[in-house]
Amino acid sequence: MTSVTVVGAQWGDEGKGKIVDWLSERADVVVRFQGGHNAGHTIVSGDATYKLSLLPSGLVRGKPSIIGNGVVIDPNALLSEIAQLTEQGLTITPETLLIADNATLILPLHVQIDAAREIARGNDKIGTTGRGIGPAYEDKVGRRAIRVCDLAEPETVAAKMRHLAAYHNVFLKAFGLEPMDPKAETDALLALAPKILPHAVPAWQVLDQHKSRNDRILFEGAQGVMLDVDHGTYPFVTSSNTVAGQAAAGSGMGSLAGNYVLGITKAYTTRVGSGPFPSEQDNATGDRLGERGHEFGTVTGRKRRCGWFDAVMVRQAMKTAGIDGMALTKLDVLDGFEELKVCVGYRLNGETLDRFPAGQEAQAKVEAVYETLEGWSESTAGARSWADLPATAIKYIRRIEELVERPVTLLSTGRDREDTILVRDPFAA
Ligand code: GDP
Ligand code: IMO
Ligand code: MG
Repeated sequence: MTSVTVVGAQWGDEGKGKIVDWLSERADVVVRFQGGHNAGHTIVSGDATYKLSLLPSGLVRGKPSIIGNGVVIDPNALLSEIAQLTEQGLTITPETLLIADNATLILPLHVQIDAAREIARGNDKIGTTGRGIGPAYEDKVGRRAIRVCDLAEPETVAAKMRHLAAYHNVFLKAFGLEPMDPKAETDALLALAPKILPHAVPAWQVLDQHKSRNDRILFEGAQGVMLDVDHGTYPFVTSSNTVAGQAAAGSGMGSLAGNYVLGITKAYTTRVGSGPFPSEQDNATGDRLGERGHEFGTVTGRKRRCGWFDAVMVRQAMKTAGIDGMALTKLDVLDGFEELKVCVGYRLNGETLDRFPAGQEAQAKVEAVYETLEGWSESTAGARSWADLPATAIKYIRRIEELVERPVTLLSTGRDREDTILVRDPFAA
């Protein structure tokens, strides 16, 4: 089998959408395997900008695309995203967009609970995207969830909805919110069924056919390793596994022998929402990174927190996520900095750590230890060959490779899909 799994190596927004779009030219099918419309993947091609949240980025190039069973799907959000992209000229049909029939649905109830939980956490809030992601995954694991296939069984939907109301209305009432009306919610959901069901397929079987044809499969991760529910900065994480192994479980492929894992890695660091961020620059440097990198959330429009590259965290991400090589993005944002800092260790209670600790208090307390590297005054923006890069920029890249113990396979120097330098084809690796 020839497959590439793309995962984010930091806290999301590394440029996965751009790289998946670039790679999808070489792929036969593109598959999302976790997360939901909390993702925001931007693709720029000439004058056109596409923002995809739930839909696989392969659709921009008209590649057959699959939303796998590991994804949580808000049917209303799905339909409005299809409408939006169709208006932008993309062709999205039941032939090009396939949805795993065993994927979990996000209901309006989950959005309500997401918001209420954030209020209840007060200063401790996660800073979620408010899309109902966490509560939907909880219902999945709690064996209460309504799945895509249920839309073909109105009685199943009605029974599950009554069960969900009985379970969640206790909380909603205690919170002073309107209880969920299972009859009304069943009717509203079933009204969407005729638009969703034509896309529903046993995705595992479709992928098995691709596998037997030795097709090139591209798995598109959302979020990033440090937002992984096990390996991230828990509890300030999303509610799914974002590591490469999830591509196997969240698609129905089971395992992915021979798969190349590409970690999309920003040349500095950003984070949206709350939680620890040792190399954060809540100062003029952070503002400069944010302005040069246009660091505003694709989904929520929130300002992203910015900081220096954290090599300790990325090295850990390389290992926990099973990453083979990096696509280093947004190098151009660092143009013009006289010097660049890279976090190479943490100080905690007088000790130096070479890993990010697991404890919440320890994560909040660690202090970054920096190495300073020389910056470059030349522009790398839009560079399309390695020969166009200044020597100091190459030195920065080489030092990052050394620190995170993985090679740069692709380099991105601008928003446009063509502002990309291929070092080694991940499909041929
Ligand atoms: P994703 O969630 O990982 O797909 O990333 P987002 O799309 O949320 O955020 C990345 C942003 O950076 C988008 O606005 C991209 O258009 C932009 N971008 C991607 N690669 C580059 C790059 O190499 N240079 C610059 N300047 N912008 C980039
Ligand atoms: P892409 O795919 C950046 C963050 C939220 C919050 C935490 C939990 O575009 O990289 P959730 O709504 O998932 O329960 O929120 O995770 N988060 C992201 N941050 N990029 C994303 O996706 C994110 N998806 C979720 O900001 O801190
Ligand atoms: Mg994003």
